[in-house]
Amino acid sequence: MRIDILTILPDLLQGPFSDSIMKRAQDKGHLELEVHDIRAYSKDKHKKVDDYQYGGGAGMVMTIEPIAAVIEKLKSERDYDEIIYMTPDGELLEQSIANEFSLKGNLMILCGHYKGVDERIREHFITREISIGSYVLSGGELGAAVLVDSVVRLIPGVLNDETSALTDSFQDDMLSPPVYTRPPEYNGWKVPEVLLSGDFGKIEAWREEKAMERTLNRRPDLLKEDGKGN
Ligand code: ADE
Repeated sequence: MRIDILTILPDLLQGPFSDSIMKRAQDKGHLELEVHDIRAYSKDKHKKVDDYQYGGGAGMVMTIEPIAAVIEKLKSERDYDEIIYMTPDGELLEQSIANEFSLKGNLMILCGHYKGVDERIREHFITREISIGSYVLSGGELGAAVLVDSVVRLIPGVLNDETSALTDSFQDDMLSPPVYTRPPEYNGWKVPEVLLSGDFGKIEAWREEKAMERTLNRRPDLLKEDGKGN
C-alpha cells in the first residue's frame, strides 16, 4: 500500500511512523509512506499557505493553490483510491473504515489547520472526510497518524501471530476479554484458574463470556443492530 500525507508540519509526522509496527511495515515493503510539505508548493515569496476568510470572521483558511498543486502532481503520478481530508466534521473513524481502507492500494491524506481548507478543495478533490473523534485538534496530523496506524496494522503480513489483528477489540463488534501473563500469582492476586487449566474449550467459553460482559458494561451500543446504537 502507498500512503501520501499532505501537511504544513511534516516534522510532526516523523515520530509515529519511525518506530515499532509502522516502521516494520515500511521496512518489510508493506507500506510506502511519503509525507509532503504543502509549504514547498506555495508560490508566495514568504511561503504563505493561509489567508483571511471571505466575509470576515476570526481564523485563517488554508489556500487552494499550494494544496491543489501537490494533489495534481501526485494524481499525475498514480491513481488514488481515496483522497481523504482529516476534519472534525468528517465521518467518525470506526474499525469498519480501517478494514475498508486496508484493502486499498493508494491513499492520499490531507491534514487541515486553522479554520480548515478552502471549501473548493473539499468539493473538487476530496473523496472521503474522516474525523477521529468529537473534539477539535490543532491540526489533522495526529488524526492522520491514528488513521494510518489503524489501517496499516491490518495489511496482511504486517502483524505476526502474537499481534494478530483478528482478535482485536471491535473486529466482531465486541470488546476483547481480559488478558493475563506470568506470574500466576502476584501480591496474592491470582490469574483466573480456567486460563491455567489447559482445557481450550473451557478457555474459549470463558473468553467469550468475559468479552460479552465487558461489551455489555462498557459499550452496549456495539451490540445494537448497526453498532452505532440504532
Ligand atoms: N482535525 C482537527 N480535529 C480533528 C478531528 N477530531 N479528527 C480529524 N481531524 C481533525
